[in-house]
Amino acid sequence: MAFWKKKPAGEAREVDFSRLPDHVAIIMDGNGRWAKKRGLPRTAGHAAGAEAFRTIAYYCRDIGIPYLTVYAFSTENWRRPQEEVSAIMGLLKNYLLEVLEKMERDGFRVHFFGDLSVLSPDLRDLCLRSMERSKQVPPGHQVNICLNYGGRDELIRAVKAWQADCQAGKADPADLTEEVLSGYLDSAGIPDPDLVIRPSGELRLSNFLPWQSAYAEFWFSDVLWPDFTPEVLNQAIADFQTRDRRFGGV
Ligand code: FPP
Repeated sequence: MAFWKKKPAGEAREVDFSRLPDHVAIIMDGNGRWAKKRGLPRTAGHAAGAEAFRTIAYYCRDIGIPYLTVYAFSTENWRRPQEEVSAIMGLLKNYLLEVLEKMERDGFRVHFFGDLSVLSPDLRDLCLRSMERSKQVPPGHQVNICLNYGGRDELIRAVKAWQADCQAGKADPADLTEEVLSGYLDSAGIPDPDLVIRPSGELRLSNFLPWQSAYAEFWFSDVLWPDFTPEVLNQAIADFQTRDRRFGGV
């Protein structure tokens, strides 16, 4: 029996693998504290966080969660020391090189949320190539990486693009609906997250998918992201499965 299907220890609930969320979104928080606890540089925490991401991405694919979205770098993260920013960008670059090589074999589609225009040309090129190559991978499991992403920035970019279409006669202000605006977001065509997870003990959204999370269920944990395992994700999913989602109804 696969390790994740074994009965969890103690009082933990079991996951019903026939009722999984379609879209899980995660704020990968706590890398710095994980490193500090071990007397390591913060960059070592991000390297461990990138490994945790790999494990969780494969796990979601294996159990059949179609969409995983992760917050890798926010529009505010540029305020960090240059060395730390470079380390995170380097990890992303390595990951994308690996993905480009194994994407078809491993069945992943990769997509980006965020303003890629300010990235270094080589990283931006890798992001664009990964998205282009993803079109050849059959749908089934998609990883969305939020890179230079901020929810408010995403909304401003969407409104500007819609405004430009209005001026060009391709959109009509009288027809603006939630669906129309959703079509201008980075997440266009992707279902809203069902479950938003934030590890590391922080209880805030930090500009992560504010529009898309309007009806999401939230799950928080004290586990630091590099220690986040498939077993922890199972706890989140099992908890999610106990929630009564009414979407404003009764
Ligand atoms: C937040 O923890 C984490 C980040 C800002 C970076 C996340 C990046 C990665 C996990 C690596 C690259 C990603 C991929 C998809 C390969 P923090 O540094 O704020 O931690 P702290 O709150 O403990 O200081």
